[in-house]
Amino acid sequence: MLDIAFAKAVLPKTGVVVVPLAEGAALSGQALALDKACAGALKRAIDAAAFTGKKGSQVNLPAPTAGLRRVLLLGTGKAGALTPRRAEELGGALAAALARESEALLLAEDLSPPLAAHLALGARLRAYKFEKYRTTLEDDEKARLAKLTILGADPAKSRAAYTPLAAVAEGVELTRDLVTEPANVLYPAEFATRLEGLKKLGLKIEVFDRKALEKLGFGSMLSVSWGSAREPRMVVLQWLGASGATGAEGKKPKKPKAPIAFIGKGVTFDSGGISIKPAAGMEDMKWDMAGAGAVAGVMAALAGRKARVDAIGLVGLVENMPSGSAVRPGDVVKSYSGQTIEILNTDAEGRLVLADVLYYAQARFAPRYMIDLATLTGAIIVGLGHEYAGLFSNSDELSGKLIAAGQAVGEELWRMPLAAPGESYDKNLKSAIADMQNIGGGRAGGSITAAQFLQRFVNGKPWAHLDIAGMAWAAKDLPTTPKGATAYGVRLLDRLVADHFEGDPAAP
Ligand code: BES
Ligand code: MN
Ligand code: ZN
Repeated sequence: MLDIAFAKAVLPKTGVVVVPLAEGAALSGQALALDKACAGALKRAIDAAAFTGKKGSQVNLPAPTAGLRRVLLLGTGKAGALTPRRAEELGGALAAALARESEALLLAEDLSPPLAAHLALGARLRAYKFEKYRTTLEDDEKARLAKLTILGADPAKSRAAYTPLAAVAEGVELTRDLVTEPANVLYPAEFATRLEGLKKLGLKIEVFDRKALEKLGFGSMLSVSWGSAREPRMVVLQWLGASGATGAEGKKPKKPKAPIAFIGKGVTFDSGGISIKPAAGMEDMKWDMAGAGAVAGVMAALAGRKARVDAIGLVGLVENMPSGSAVRPGDVVKSYSGQTIEILNTDAEGRLVLADVLYYAQARFAPRYMIDLATLTGAIIVGLGHEYAGLFSNSDELSGKLIAAGQAVGEELWRMPLAAPGESYDKNLKSAIADMQNIGGGRAGGSITAAQFLQRFVNGKPWAHLDIAGMAWAAKDLPTTPKGATAYGVRLLDRLVADHFEGDPAAP
């Protein structure tokens, strides 16, 4: 993890120094003093490289003095145009450029404390690494940015602004670790065990095993796990930051009042089951639990920054495998809601998991809003690519809030259609022998069909479904995400809570 420190501005004489510079701005203050200490090398480099300060542009000066190892000029774009999100992207660019340095200093006297804090967050998120299974590293892979010290920008205020962001970063890191783990290590029971580690943050946690789920009548979710040697779990996390702290203080939790509920698809491996997937790319299905991973991360973030909100996280954890005990195409199961489902394709399993967990969430907690996250359909990748997650909702108000939160943190959503029960798209789910079937008639509108299926289990309550299949995993580096697990959804939902659900608990 990248360690971030904030300190008073001093003129650095050794090490690696990053000098941010706005478009068209001249060197001033500490940066000018540094230039003098380097006998004008910074100004000469700016001229020689025609450096204008354009956002993201960089000029590298190796060893400009006997003491300084490196100076990096970093363009910050038009003065005054720096938003928190753009500051994060700059931090990410800095972390990428300095990936092989061990420590760096940033001259930040021109940055406001909130922008300095967001820059630090961006650097930390981009510096994430998952290396637990590498037993050998090349020499040039061993070096890593371990510490970034931000000089100036009112250290005390910047540190205060960074503290809640660090809790969010920890949530993101937790999610990325869970999503990256291979399925032989992270199966439902192991996922639940890792969530138990969140008790230390003050979260209340309940784990439901197979027997408990059978007793509840989770016939839809359980059918997905029939073929697997790994037993299913459902985990319920509660953070009661508005109605009274839970867990760590050992107090008996009060019942949350109209909490917000996050529900995650946690298929720890999706082989497709008897409707088995093709071999090519099947390894990607280790991350078919990214929705559950994001729920874990946002709950950790909310607890870590002691958010004044009552939030519930529920994850349905199963492995989808073919075997002699696996569910077959044509089987009929009874869901927790009482509705029966004809399973025509065992690869449309995520909706079978969410059906029971969604119905349970609304029945037990009467949430103000339910938001589910799921790597639900390949079709959403066909439709939206890797720029937006699909948003399906029965609430215009919730949709607007989610879209705005996504824009603020760079985790964007595009709203998709959803028909009323019994109308248009919903009709595709009509089954010949049960209350519904788990797929539509053909491939057309596959992501919408899946959302229509989920809607049948929300009992008319305000709800949004985020199909994150195209966003959970990045094939290439992004500004604040190295390639791999993105933890999409953690920052989005944390921001939604911060913007709308932490004020007066009576107000929406
Ligand atoms: N987990 C997959 C969806 C998925 C595909 C996520 C690719 C990420 C990348 C889901 O369980 C699935 O298999 N969906 C099927 C549904 C179909 C059988 C109706 C699909 O998308 O093909
Ligand atoms: Mn599937
Ligand atoms: Zn799946």
